[in-house]
Amino acid sequence: MSRILCPLLFITITGTAPALDITSRDAWNALPFTTSELVLNPVLFVVIHHSEVPPACYTKRECTLAMQHIQNMHLEYKGWPDISYNFAVGGDGNVYEGRGWSQVGAYTPGYDKDSIGICLIGNWTEETPPQNQLDAAQELIQYGVDQGMINPDYMVLGHREISEVECPGDGLFAEISTWENFVEF
Ligand SMILES: *[C@@H]1O[C@H](CO)[C@@H](O)[C@H](O)[C@H]1NC(C)=O
Ligand SMILES: [Zn+2]
Repeated sequence: MSRILCPLLFITITGTAPALDITSRDAWNALPFTTSELVLNPVLFVVIHHSEVPPACYTKRECTLAMQHIQNMHLEYKGWPDISYNFAVGGDGNVYEGRGWSQVGAYTPGYDKDSIGICLIGNWTEETPPQNQLDAAQELIQYGVDQGMINPDYMVLGHREISEVECPGDGLFAEISTWENFVEF
Protein backbone atom coordinates (compact mmCIF):
# COMPACT_ATOMS: atom_id res chain seq x y z
CA MET A 1 0.00 0.00 0.00
CA SER A 2 2.72 2.46 0.96
CA ARG A 3 4.42 1.89 -2.39
CA ILE A 4 1.30 3.10 -4.10
CA LEU A 5 0.73 6.04 -1.78
CA CYS A 6 4.24 7.41 -1.85
CA PRO A 7 4.38 8.37 -5.51
CA LEU A 8 0.97 9.99 -5.17
CA LEU A 9 2.13 12.00 -2.19
CA PHE A 10 5.22 13.03 -4.12
CA ILE A 11 3.10 14.28 -6.99
CA THR A 12 0.85 16.21 -4.66
CA ILE A 13 3.71 17.96 -2.92
CA THR A 14 5.65 18.87 -6.04
CA GLY A 15 2.68 19.70 -8.24
CA THR A 16 2.37 23.34 -9.23
CA ALA A 17 -0.63 25.36 -8.09
CA PRO A 18 -3.54 25.15 -10.52
CA ALA A 19 -3.87 28.01 -12.97
CA LEU A 20 -6.42 30.65 -12.05
CA ASP A 21 -9.56 30.28 -14.14
CA ILE A 22 -9.60 33.56 -16.07
CA THR A 23 -12.48 34.13 -18.49
CA SER A 24 -10.73 34.92 -21.77
CA ARG A 25 -11.56 37.73 -24.17
CA ASP A 26 -12.93 35.17 -26.61
CA ALA A 27 -15.22 33.77 -23.94
CA TRP A 28 -16.85 37.17 -23.32
CA ASN A 29 -16.87 38.00 -27.03
CA ALA A 30 -14.45 40.92 -26.88
CA LEU A 31 -13.82 43.01 -29.96
CA PRO A 32 -10.20 42.89 -31.12
CA PHE A 33 -7.80 45.47 -29.70
CA THR A 34 -5.31 47.63 -31.50
CA THR A 35 -2.84 48.43 -28.74
CA SER A 36 0.69 47.15 -28.75
CA GLU A 37 2.46 49.09 -25.99
CA LEU A 38 3.78 46.80 -23.28
CA VAL A 39 4.26 47.25 -19.54
CA LEU A 40 7.45 46.13 -17.86
CA ASN A 41 6.54 42.97 -15.99
CA PRO A 42 6.73 42.47 -13.14
CA VAL A 43 4.82 45.70 -12.48
CA LEU A 44 5.05 47.48 -9.12
CA PHE A 45 1.58 49.06 -8.95
CA VAL A 46 -1.86 47.51 -8.90
CA VAL A 47 -4.52 50.18 -9.50
CA ILE A 48 -8.06 49.35 -8.36
CA HIS A 49 -11.13 50.72 -10.19
CA HIS A 50 -14.88 50.37 -10.15
CA SER A 51 -16.94 50.53 -13.32
CA GLU A 52 -19.69 52.72 -11.79
CA VAL A 53 -21.53 51.95 -15.05
CA PRO A 54 -22.58 49.24 -15.65
CA PRO A 55 -23.75 48.36 -12.13
CA ALA A 56 -22.80 45.19 -10.30
CA CYS A 57 -23.29 41.83 -12.02
CA TYR A 58 -23.86 38.56 -10.21
CA THR A 59 -24.00 35.85 -12.88
CA LYS A 60 -21.65 34.87 -15.68
CA ARG A 61 -24.21 36.05 -18.20
CA GLU A 62 -24.63 39.46 -16.56
CA CYS A 63 -20.88 39.92 -16.16
CA THR A 64 -20.21 38.91 -19.77
CA LEU A 65 -22.68 41.59 -20.90
CA ALA A 66 -21.05 44.05 -18.49
CA MET A 67 -17.64 43.40 -20.07
CA GLN A 68 -19.06 44.04 -23.53
CA HIS A 69 -20.74 47.20 -22.25
CA ILE A 70 -17.51 48.51 -20.70
CA GLN A 71 -15.51 47.75 -23.83
CA ASN A 72 -18.09 49.51 -26.00
CA MET A 73 -18.04 52.59 -23.76
CA HIS A 74 -14.27 52.76 -23.84
CA LEU A 75 -14.10 52.33 -27.61
CA GLU A 76 -16.98 54.62 -28.56
CA TYR A 77 -17.08 57.35 -25.92
CA LYS A 78 -13.53 57.45 -24.65
CA GLY A 79 -11.97 56.73 -28.03
CA TRP A 80 -9.55 54.24 -26.50
CA PRO A 81 -8.23 51.32 -28.55
CA ASP A 82 -9.60 48.74 -26.11
CA ILE A 83 -11.22 48.23 -22.72
CA SER A 84 -8.90 50.16 -20.43
CA TYR A 85 -8.56 47.62 -17.62
CA ASN A 86 -6.07 44.78 -17.59
CA PHE A 87 -8.64 42.62 -15.79
CA ALA A 88 -12.10 42.95 -14.34
CA VAL A 89 -13.70 40.96 -11.56
CA GLY A 90 -17.43 40.28 -11.38
CA GLY A 91 -19.82 39.81 -8.50
CA ASP A 92 -20.11 36.26 -9.84
CA GLY A 93 -16.60 35.68 -8.46
CA ASN A 94 -15.07 35.34 -11.92
CA VAL A 95 -12.04 37.13 -13.31
CA TYR A 96 -12.39 38.53 -16.83
CA GLU A 97 -9.46 39.24 -19.12
CA GLY A 98 -9.20 42.81 -20.37
CA ARG A 99 -5.86 43.88 -21.79
CA GLY A 100 -4.17 41.06 -19.91
CA TRP A 101 -0.91 41.10 -17.96
CA SER A 102 1.31 42.96 -20.37
CA GLN A 103 -0.61 45.54 -22.39
CA VAL A 104 -0.47 49.11 -21.14
CA GLY A 105 -3.82 50.30 -19.72
CA ALA A 106 -5.42 53.64 -20.54
CA TYR A 107 -6.14 55.16 -17.15
CA THR A 108 -3.01 56.20 -15.31
CA PRO A 109 -0.68 58.63 -17.04
CA GLY A 110 2.71 58.33 -15.38
CA TYR A 111 1.98 54.85 -14.07
CA ASP A 112 1.02 53.09 -17.27
CA LYS A 113 4.24 51.23 -17.82
CA ASP A 114 4.57 50.01 -14.25
CA SER A 115 1.00 49.11 -13.35
CA ILE A 116 -1.94 46.92 -14.11
CA GLY A 117 -5.51 48.05 -13.55
CA ILE A 118 -8.17 45.82 -12.06
CA CYS A 119 -11.82 46.86 -12.17
CA LEU A 120 -14.37 45.51 -9.71
CA ILE A 121 -17.51 45.70 -11.81
CA GLY A 122 -20.20 47.75 -10.05
CA ASN A 123 -20.87 51.13 -8.50
CA TRP A 124 -19.06 51.03 -5.15
CA THR A 125 -19.66 54.66 -4.22
CA GLU A 126 -21.63 53.68 -1.13
CA GLU A 127 -21.77 49.91 -1.13
CA THR A 128 -18.95 47.42 -0.73
CA PRO A 129 -18.44 44.61 -3.23
CA PRO A 130 -19.48 41.12 -2.10
CA GLN A 131 -16.80 39.00 -0.46
CA ASN A 132 -16.43 36.61 -3.41
CA GLN A 133 -15.61 39.56 -5.67
CA LEU A 134 -13.03 40.94 -3.23
CA ASP A 135 -11.51 37.47 -2.78
CA ALA A 136 -11.27 36.93 -6.53
CA ALA A 137 -9.47 40.28 -6.96
CA GLN A 138 -6.92 39.33 -4.32
CA GLU A 139 -6.48 35.85 -5.78
CA LEU A 140 -5.81 37.45 -9.16
CA ILE A 141 -3.13 39.70 -7.67
CA GLN A 142 -1.47 36.76 -5.90
CA TYR A 143 -1.62 34.74 -9.11
CA GLY A 144 0.05 37.62 -10.94
CA VAL A 145 2.85 37.59 -8.36
CA ASP A 146 3.23 33.81 -8.72
CA GLN A 147 3.40 34.16 -12.51
CA GLY A 148 6.11 36.84 -12.33
CA MET A 149 3.77 39.49 -13.73
CA ILE A 150 3.46 41.53 -10.52
CA ASN A 151 6.35 42.50 -8.25
CA PRO A 152 6.19 40.58 -4.93
CA ASP A 153 6.57 43.97 -3.18
CA TYR A 154 3.68 45.43 -5.16
CA MET A 155 1.65 48.42 -4.00
CA VAL A 156 -2.13 48.65 -4.22
CA LEU A 157 -3.60 52.05 -5.08
CA GLY A 158 -7.10 53.34 -5.66
CA HIS A 159 -7.48 55.14 -8.98
CA ARG A 160 -8.39 58.35 -7.08
CA GLU A 161 -4.92 58.47 -5.56
CA ILE A 162 -3.31 59.20 -8.91
CA SER A 163 -6.10 60.92 -10.89
CA GLU A 164 -8.83 63.48 -10.19
CA VAL A 165 -11.59 60.88 -10.01
CA GLU A 166 -13.93 59.36 -7.42
CA CYS A 167 -13.05 55.88 -8.66
CA PRO A 168 -13.06 53.26 -7.11
CA GLY A 169 -15.84 54.76 -4.91
CA ASP A 170 -15.80 55.34 -1.15
CA GLY A 171 -17.08 51.84 -0.40
CA LEU A 172 -14.42 49.98 -2.35
CA PHE A 173 -11.70 52.45 -1.42
CA ALA A 174 -12.38 51.88 2.30
CA GLU A 175 -12.11 48.15 1.65
CA ILE A 176 -8.80 48.21 -0.26
CA SER A 177 -7.39 50.57 2.40
CA THR A 178 -7.34 47.53 4.68
CA TRP A 179 -5.34 45.38 2.25
CA GLU A 180 -1.81 44.58 3.33
CA ASN A 181 -0.11 46.07 0.27
CA PHE A 182 -2.25 49.21 0.13
CA VAL A 183 -0.27 52.45 0.05
CA GLU A 184 -1.55 55.93 0.68
CA PHE A 185 -0.17 58.54 -1.67
C1 LIG B 1 -23.41 55.43 -8.04
O1 LIG B 1 -23.91 55.36 -6.72
C2 LIG B 1 -24.08 56.62 -6.09
C3 LIG B 1 -24.47 56.37 -4.65
O2 LIG B 1 -25.50 55.44 -4.54
C4 LIG B 1 -25.09 57.43 -6.87
O3 LIG B 1 -25.26 58.70 -6.27
C5 LIG B 1 -24.61 57.59 -8.30
O4 LIG B 1 -25.56 58.27 -9.07
C6 LIG B 1 -24.33 56.22 -8.93
N1 LIG B 1 -23.72 56.40 -10.24
C7 LIG B 1 -24.36 56.06 -11.35
C8 LIG B 1 -23.67 56.41 -12.61
O5 LIG B 1 -25.43 55.49 -11.34
ZN1 LIG C 1 -10.84 54.14 -12.34
